[in-house]
Amino acid sequence: MPVEAPKIVVEPPGPKAREIIEKDEQLIMQSFSRWYPLVVEEAQGAIVRDVDGNIYIDMNSGLAVVNAGHRNKQVVEAIKKQVEKLIHYSLTDFYYEEAVRGAENLLSISPIKEGKVFYTNSGAESIEGVLKIARGYFNNSRPYVIAFLGAFHGRTYGAMSLTASKPVQRKGFSPLVPGIIHVPYPYPYRCPFKAETPEECGDAVIGFMEEWIFGKMVDPSEVSLVIAEPIQGEGGYIVPPDNFFPKLRKLTEKHGILLASDEVQAGFGRTGKWFGIMHWNVEPDLIATAKGIANGLPLGAVIGKKSIMTLPRGSHANTFGGNPVSLAAMNAVIDFMKKERILERVEKLGEEVKKYFKDLASEAKLIGDVRGKGFMIGVELVKDHDTKKPAKEEMVEIMMRSFKKGVLVIGAGVSTLRIAPPLTIEEELLWKALEIIGSTIKEVSRS
Ligand SMILES: Cc1ncc(COP(=O)(O)O)c(C=O)c1O
Repeated sequence: MPVEAPKIVVEPPGPKAREIIEKDEQLIMQSFSRWYPLVVEEAQGAIVRDVDGNIYIDMNSGLAVVNAGHRNKQVVEAIKKQVEKLIHYSLTDFYYEEAVRGAENLLSISPIKEGKVFYTNSGAESIEGVLKIARGYFNNSRPYVIAFLGAFHGRTYGAMSLTASKPVQRKGFSPLVPGIIHVPYPYPYRCPFKAETPEECGDAVIGFMEEWIFGKMVDPSEVSLVIAEPIQGEGGYIVPPDNFFPKLRKLTEKHGILLASDEVQAGFGRTGKWFGIMHWNVEPDLIATAKGIANGLPLGAVIGKKSIMTLPRGSHANTFGGNPVSLAAMNAVIDFMKKERILERVEKLGEEVKKYFKDLASEAKLIGDVRGKGFMIGVELVKDHDTKKPAKEEMVEIMMRSFKKGVLVIGAGVSTLRIAPPLTIEEELLWKALEIIGSTIKEVSRS
């Protein structure tokens, strides 16, 4: 692929893109959100080419998936080698070594010290697994589950019932899975408890759970699981205060409740650690992972403490989970990230990116808050710094103008730009993309 990027040769969507979009609208159910009319033909590293020959810099990694870069060489080689050997043989019914090797590899990077793995095909399926494992572990004697407002856990019934980031994701689908209670997430920039500092916001959420949920609504002995994203993704790239997860861990331990970390978006190196919750040295009982795990091949996993991964034979399974080709890709991703010291790179560069946007805030009045870890960075846009009214239309305008200039950046929450390039992006490309996004934010701030 050519290296000159970005390069716009025809205003997107070009003629070929328009033709494909028209057919897509006729043939494919249009229930997706879809950000802008990008029709992808080819991608390599952090560069994407559309069907009309436009070249873009990818600042969303195909939705936080290709962490090791599009068509990472090592991953492609591993896939090819595996395809020549074994493509499928249902792990539900039989055995193969790739599954065992993959589990050893996954556990080696997991914060769960003594664990077991259950393979899935997607993030939502990992979440379904977490729900069943937790309720099953207590033999359904603890029917309640606590999740957080602003959370996104997926679209299947269990995952959707835990999700609370946009009403449209749940509207029209009731009755949802019963027994799920939502509580506020500590969102320091917009703390629902009007706390003065991030730590006070964290304390207020823990206090609310103790005093109002356990004190007035549900006895904690009936709660099996608390599930949280270490950094809320779709909800707006929201980083909780440092005291939150350690205190949540203490609270769940006190009541014998399992704690699950939804690492579907924040996991696999995205935040500069293998799993997001590792930023706070907390060992959860369960982890849900997917997205970046196999760099674009469908794969997910639940990692859980051995003592908890106890669903009986026949009670939970799938046909494709732990596909050997996807596992070969996952093993190559882990090897590659370790060898190239990707986590250290991302932790360091992420700080520089945050500084760039924080400095830019003095010239671009739309920037209300900059937050994140590694390459999971949110730039929240507001119309007014005092009222913090979300600058939703402006966010869409910045996203669209950046797209037309050759940078693929998307939103999260109501008005947050998410900066989530492949973890391998060349520094030159990264800064080119940031300059384009930055100058576009300034342009729209002035208008
Ligand atoms: C935190 C989180 N959990 C779960 C999911 C659902 O994953 P999938 O789309 O693979 O079902 C997502 C997807 O964006 C996610 O960000």
